[in-house]
Amino acid sequence: MSKVKFYSGEDIPLELHKVRVVQKLHLVPIERRLNAIEEAGFNTFRLNTKDVYLDMLTDSGTNAMSDNQVAAMFQADDAYAGSQSFYKYQQAVEDVLEKKYLLPVHQGRAAENVISRTFIKPGNIIPMNYHFTTALAHILEVGGKIAELLHDDALILQSTNPFKGNIDIDKLVKCIEENGVENISFIRMEASTNLIGGQPFSMANLMDVRQIADKYGIMLILDASLIGENAYLIKEREQAWKENSLGDIIKAMTDLADLVYFSARKLSSSRGGGICINRKELYYKMEALIPLYEGFLTYGGISVREIEAIAVGLRETLDETMISQSPKFIEHLVTELDKKGIPVVTPPGVLGAHVDAGSFCQHIPQTEYPAGALAAAYYLISGVRGMERGTISSVRDENGVEILANIELLRLALPRRVFTLSQVKYVLDRLTWLYDNRELIGGLRFTYEPPVLRFFMGGLEPTSNWPARLVEKFKKDFGDSL
Ligand code: F0G
Repeated sequence: MSKVKFYSGEDIPLELHKVRVVQKLHLVPIERRLNAIEEAGFNTFRLNTKDVYLDMLTDSGTNAMSDNQVAAMFQADDAYAGSQSFYKYQQAVEDVLEKKYLLPVHQGRAAENVISRTFIKPGNIIPMNYHFTTALAHILEVGGKIAELLHDDALILQSTNPFKGNIDIDKLVKCIEENGVENISFIRMEASTNLIGGQPFSMANLMDVRQIADKYGIMLILDASLIGENAYLIKEREQAWKENSLGDIIKAMTDLADLVYFSARKLSSSRGGGICINRKELYYKMEALIPLYEGFLTYGGISVREIEAIAVGLRETLDETMISQSPKFIEHLVTELDKKGIPVVTPPGVLGAHVDAGSFCQHIPQTEYPAGALAAAYYLISGVRGMERGTISSVRDENGVEILANIELLRLALPRRVFTLSQVKYVLDRLTWLYDNRELIGGLRFTYEPPVLRFFMGGLEPTSNWPARLVEKFKKDFGDSL
């Protein structure tokens, strides 16, 4: 984004790219949207994109590629072993993340699988700022447990705390002392803490965590899937790093971690992932699992074309005009929502705007999934697909009792350089209408509940005939408008 000031005084995020390849979108009528969400079991993951106007489900695999990335894909070296494409990827990891050894994996959760199987013993505790769904699933799968150690105010949704992703150092020390060092597998820090609204941690906090890790001899693992954005917010919000380049900040972050892993679907391309380390003994501990689960060590389940795109994308992560585009659009959307009194997570984070579904749908009990209901209702009245990040995305305990989520969010992702400002204005307009008509939204209940990661493919139904009432009011207010 440029730092251009507008004569009008308006704060408008101005793009420093142009659109050269486009995809046609369809906004289907509300009657079709009603059928589509019913067919999808009121779960936006199960919608077919032919029925979706703006796909704000995620930024995973959906960021726009640059011309240089696409060009690089034509130079891929098709080889099972020893592909030149892999060495370009490895070099980019060394240059950008300053880690010498790279284990390629097909996506982020595959890294979590390899790391969990290698380092976690049953009963181990993994202290972290906050979990991510797939990280938690893999930790539980091998018998580990998590300890989430955010500061108490991190879950206050409307706040001015610039670094809600920070670990509370006192809680970290207490957790280690109480559980015993021998029962801690590693400390996990997630850049731009996804599930609490894409909230960053500060460099000062990461340095403090490193000190504790050193003091107790515990490994520090960094989930770097959203490292570029976290680095950008450190530059924006942390005085000591204002004059540094994104590259300097990213290197300072990865230098503090013993192991860095990422989903390249978010970080730099549309597929792939990686585990990056400097210590050869850690590399050897994990190495054997790559051919077993992923593929040979020079492709790890990623196509060579994608590997080329990852390598270029990693280098482009250092470009502030590229990295800032999504956070700037998010800031714009969040600020406008906030001005209208629509409850949204503040300060603006990364990845997307996060609507506070708990406040938006105060009348819906948490056991009837307010965030899921809001995601379904919003799709119905706008064709915009967001993602539930609340109790549906949570799990049941060992007795089968539902663990209610700490916060209920509707995430509206803004993948990099994909949407225009007029589309963002449409998102805002329809959300404003829905807020004014929020009493019409009702709850949901499961009709099909998968045992693991239920939010992906779970099926639900409305607890009353509220979707029809919403359609009726929409038609009254908008006539034959889509
Ligand atoms: N870690 C973080 C912080 C993530 O956000 C994700 C994925 C993963 C790990 C797993 O990576 O999908 O490549 O296997 N986040 C996506 C999202 C799914 O929509 O937020 P993956």
